[in-house]
Amino acid sequence: MVREVVVYPDKRLKLISRDVESFDEELHTLLDDMYDTMRAKNGVGLAAVQVGVDVRVLIINIPLEDKEGEDTQPRENTLEMINPVIVEADGVEVFQEGCLSVPGFYEDVERAKHVKVEYFDRYGNKKVIEDDDFLAIAVQHEIDHLEGKVFIEKLSYTKRKKFEKEWKRKIKGQKSLKI
Ligand code: CO
Repeated sequence: MVREVVVYPDKRLKLISRDVESFDEELHTLLDDMYDTMRAKNGVGLAAVQVGVDVRVLIINIPLEDKEGEDTQPRENTLEMINPVIVEADGVEVFQEGCLSVPGFYEDVERAKHVKVEYFDRYGNKKVIEDDDFLAIAVQHEIDHLEGKVFIEKLSYTKRKKFEKEWKRKIKGQKSLKI
């Protein structure tokens, strides 16, 4: 089931998410709904807090080569991470990021190039993953959400100011369309 995505500057995005303690049906439903929501919005990653649930759960879709006529977002390519912790981070990488909670806005963000992450899968099995490409960037972006942070907070002062001005105008425009 597709859930509503919380959009910036909604205060719920500032919540610091709690650890998951039960790997139960409720968690599985949340993960399934997050997958449906990510797909419906054409996203590549989503944190539970973005659908208003402040628990340490995130999903990332590892994109495949864009082959015509093929499903580029198969379910088995979606990584589910519960209670993720970055245990190693090094190097520097600049990537253009976007976010389903800040729709239509993209900007370069600097992050660690390589990370090692420990997490649990939906059944409570402990896992570890290492990456120095797209997945490394996406994990850092999603874990920031679990800490109540959105990627625009990593922009320079000037870029942030410009964003806030444009975003206010955009949100106002959307409100007036609903009348
Ligand atoms: Co995001």
